[in-house]
Amino acid sequence: MKTITASTSRPYDIVIGQGILGQCGDVIQSLFPGGETVIVTDDNVEPLYLDILKRTLEEAGIGCVAFIIPNGEESKSMDIVEELLEFLAKRNVTRTDFITALGGGVVGDLAGFAAAAYLRGIPYIQIPTTLLAAVDSSVGGKTGVNLKSGKNLAGAFHQPSLVWCDYDTHKTMDPERYSDGIAEAIKCAVLKGEDFFSLLETENLYKHVEEVIENCIRLKLRIVSEDEFDTGRRQFLNLGHTIGHAIEARSGYEIPHGHAVACGMVAIADIAATNGLADFDCRDRIANLLKRYGLPTELPYPIEELTPYIENDKKRFGSTLRLIIPENIGHCRMVPIPVEEISSFFHI
Ligand SMILES: NC(=O)c1ccc[n+]([C@@H]2O[C@H](COP(=O)([O-])OP(=O)(O)OC[C@H]3O[C@@H](n4cnc5c(N)ncnc54)[C@H](O)[C@@H]3O)[C@@H](O)[C@H]2O)c1
Ligand SMILES: [Zn+2]
Repeated sequence: MKTITASTSRPYDIVIGQGILGQCGDVIQSLFPGGETVIVTDDNVEPLYLDILKRTLEEAGIGCVAFIIPNGEESKSMDIVEELLEFLAKRNVTRTDFITALGGGVVGDLAGFAAAAYLRGIPYIQIPTTLLAAVDSSVGGKTGVNLKSGKNLAGAFHQPSLVWCDYDTHKTMDPERYSDGIAEAIKCAVLKGEDFFSLLETENLYKHVEEVIENCIRLKLRIVSEDEFDTGRRQFLNLGHTIGHAIEARSGYEIPHGHAVACGMVAIADIAATNGLADFDCRDRIANLLKRYGLPTELPYPIEELTPYIENDKKRFGSTLRLIIPENIGHCRMVPIPVEEISSFFHI
């Protein structure tokens, strides 16, 4: 078991370990003496892990009730936020109580957003049960839901009070969803540097899960501590995401996020090399590592079909897009590209 402290505006601990889900009660009790909790989870996770969590909380004297949402991205909606807020209000949840998010990124983003909004902010805890949530969404304090107009368009910055990551829970995941998390871990390795990247190249990730999660979280915390409110450095975490988001949107969200980001990372590394900003060796290493874990590396659509989506990327700053370019493993650069130059930069 390993504890990392996040030194954001309000510090919190991230605890990573194997088989630790049933041991969180006392730690949580010490954070919220006298508090009660609403556990938010989805209908896939509920039959697997809700009882284990409830037992440890009840043994520690923490009263709890569950709010169960249908699994899937559609649940990250304002309708479900409203239902959850009404649920909290009907149970007279107060500011000394807290929300516990037990699930993947959908549950974490939704529960965190409800926690940020209810009574103008109550605490929440993240218990990430997917690899993607463990390495990415549970840390950093970005919460939110999708609007009909687009993904993640409504949200709030709200840091959790604790992240409790039992990576044993990831063993029940669908392998395709698990590999979405691997793609994000590989992205972190490209950003972080040679030590982490070569660990993934030479060792079996499945035998080093704790180290992998720790590396990703440390990288994310370092970047977030420099840019809690996402105005600069944090955009490095978007490596592969500009093209990745376009692939997801072009596929009508049939292609999962991690798979789209995998293709997006190779594409941007290739474009960087073609423009003389990096060498092709960097692209090849990223592609080979993704392939090693069964992730796709070829663009599923011609790049000219993706540029209209890229030009509308919500992370655009005015008429300039900030692309994250991998120059080498551990060395990425933010390159501002005027929207009208995207096509020529992409060599279309
Ligand atoms: N807040 C952030 O910084 C941030 C960062 C990255 C991604 N996200 C968001 O995270 C979401 C994606 O997260 P995700 O990939 O975890 O998706 P998810 O929460 O939808 O989980 C994927 C699937 O796995 C199931 N599941 C979860 N845990 C399981 C387990 N232990 N065993 C079996 N099945 C399990 C879920 O029910 C779901 O069907 C997206 O909405 C994305 O926008 C947020
Ligand atoms: Zn991502």
